[in-house]
Formats: sequence, structure tokens, C-alpha cells
Amino acid sequence: MLNNKTILITGGTGSFGKAFVRYIFKKYPKIKKVIIFSRDEQKQHAMSKEFSTEKYPIKYLLGDVRDKERLLQVSKNVDIVIHSAAMKHVPAAEQNPMECVKTNILGSQNIIDISIINGIDHVVALSTDKAASPINVYGASKLLLEKLFVFANSDDNNESIKFSVVRYGNIFGSKGSVVPFFMTIKDQNFLPITDKKMTRFSITLQESIDLVMYALKNGWGGEIIVPIAPSYKIIDVAKAIAPNIEHREVGIRKGEKLHEVMISEYESFATVKRDNYYIICPTDGNWDRDEYCKKTDALMVDDGFEYHSGKNSEWLDIEDIKKLIEQEEIM
Ligand SMILES: NC(=O)c1ccc[n+]([C@@H]2O[C@H](COP(=O)([O-])OP(=O)(O)OC[C@H]3O[C@@H](n4cnc5c(N)ncnc54)[C@H](OP(=O)(O)O)[C@@H]3O)[C@@H](O)[C@H]2O)c1
Repeated sequence: MLNNKTILITGGTGSFGKAFVRYIFKKYPKIKKVIIFSRDEQKQHAMSKEFSTEKYPIKYLLGDVRDKERLLQVSKNVDIVIHSAAMKHVPAAEQNPMECVKTNILGSQNIIDISIINGIDHVVALSTDKAASPINVYGASKLLLEKLFVFANSDDNNESIKFSVVRYGNIFGSKGSVVPFFMTIKDQNFLPITDKKMTRFSITLQESIDLVMYALKNGWGGEIIVPIAPSYKIIDVAKAIAPNIEHREVGIRKGEKLHEVMISEYESFATVKRDNYYIICPTDGNWDRDEYCKKTDALMVDDGFEYHSGKNSEWLDIEDIKKLIEQEEIM
């Protein structure tokens, strides 16, 4: 699927980007070229130690998704864009909302514009469960990214480019997330728990790669693809990492939800289940959901369906969490 293709990855030096590059070079030895696009030269230099330009068909290009001219230059002759670059820290986005708007919303529109101008085949953007019924700037900015991508698919300016979105929850053990945080402070005398009832969806880094690959392979364009994933309780993460110290409730932080909602009940009327994914279909007139279900064996979900981390049917218990920490080699 990716052999003989040129792939531009915005945010290619991030956790997802690096893991994705590792995966596609292994799986598709005849890839024509991978272009890594991000701002920080140090991160690109560090990445080039694993993926040197001598050994791999890879190019490191500096730039900011806010800069459309630069994006236009770097996306010439590109077949596929994976749009992963983002401001993703909830507190940083709360403190600097306009910076988040510039990167996550205006930057995403730039990706759409240059993809149309340069005739890219397929663009996949990475979104988050925080975009469903958002209460923080980050979630709201990703909701707008989703809206822009879904609209781009049906825009009159776009005849043939597929714009797909994948929406998923916390990557287990990702930088800045609760697992590595608890691991670094587990030898102190207590672990701070925002709220003992708090839950989150969980997927592994590999599952996020599989999700993007699924979008590239099966996406019609215009849909939001959501993986079916288990939930965990934050208190169970604390019990798995440091069972014998105090787990002290410190209160929920600004912009945080007690539970995440991956698909809100308001989206259920447009949602179908296909393979191991939910697909939120576009609701504009050009997209025929019945035809989609017929051609793909997808099934409509029940009316009022809500995919909620606190009401999930699949859970990671303390033992599962311990195994995942080992499997993902989180120190
Ligand atoms: N990690 C999770 O748990 C999770 C869950 C759901 C969705 N997602 C989404 O998945 C995507 C990737 O996440 P990640 O964990 O890989 O993030 P990450 O490790 O923080 O990487 C972010 C990447 O984006 C680049 N970047 C940031 N701002 C940029 C800009 N203005 N222009 C160009 N590049 C920029 C960064 O490099 P420079 O700083 O050098 O520019 C870096 O390469 C994000 O869109 C995120 O919202 C992540």
C-alpha cells in the first residue's frame, strides 16, 4: 500500500511519528520517500541517528504548520500526508489558547489547502477523544480540525482527495501521561490522584499506528474513525505501580473531565460499527451511509449510543495494567 509512495508526516519527530516511521520502513521496504516535517532541529537530528538519510529514503525538513508557503514547498510530489503535528498539552493550550488555535486549527486548514493545490491522494489527521463534547481548548481545537477535514472532503474545490480523521484516547505510557508520571514519583510517600472515580480510554502506540493504517487502507474520506478500546481507572494505575503508598485525592485539574467520551450520544445517529472500529460518517448529502453499510458490512449503532470511558464494557484491571507497563517497557 505504501510501496512507491512519498509520505509527508507533520510532527514526524513526535512519539507517534517516530513509531509510525519505524513501522512503515519495516513493512514497506519499497517506500519512495518519507518526509519528516517539524520545527525543532534537535529532535530531527536525534531522529536521524536511528533513521539516517544514508540508509533510509528519508528527508528531514524544518518548518511550522502555521506557514502555508513552506508547506506548499515541502508537499510537492507527495502522495500521502499524515497530519500528526499538534499542540497537545491541555494546560498549555488553556494558558495559550490562541497559540493552540494557530497550530491545531489554522495549521490544519493549511494542510487541507496545500493538499488540494498539490493534488495529494489521501490525508489522515490525528484527533483525540477530547474533541467529543470538548470542555478544554485542546479538545475544541481538535473538534475544529475534524470539522475542517470532514468539510474538505465534500468541498467543491476537492474532486478526488480523501481527507480522513482518526480519533483516539490516551496512548498508554505516552510522554507526559499518568503512567510515566506515577513511575517517576512512585518512591515518594504518596501518589496524587485527581479523582478516584476518574477513567480513561487506553490504546497502545502500535494500535494507534494500526488505526492510521486502517484509515489509509479503508477510508472513503470524510469519516472519523474510532478504535474500540478498553478503559482503565486512574486509581488502578496507581495500585499497579505503587500499591503500598497513600493514593491521595488532589482534585480534578482545569480543563480535565472525570471521564472521556469518545463518541457522544449526539453523534450516534451518524455512527456505524465496522470491523473493530466505530466510524462516524459525514452527514452531508454527498455521503450515502446506507451504501457505505452495504459495501463494507458496517452496522448502525443503537439510537442514543454513547462511547464513554466510565461506561465501557471492556476494562484493564490492575494485572492488565502491570502487564502493559512491562510490554511497553515504560520505566
Ligand atoms: N499521545 C496521545 O496520548 C494522543 C492521544 C490522542 C491523539 N493524539 C494526537 O496524536 C498526534 C501525535 O501525538 P504525539 O504524542 O506524537 O505528540 P508529540 O510527541 O508531542 O509530537 C508532536 C509533534 O508535532 C511537532 N509539532 C508541534 N507543533 C508543530 C508545528 N507548529 N509545526 C510543525 N510541527 C509541530 C513536534 O515537533 P516540534 O516541536 O519540533 O515542531 C512533534 O514532532 C497529535 O496530533 C495528538 O493530538 C495523541
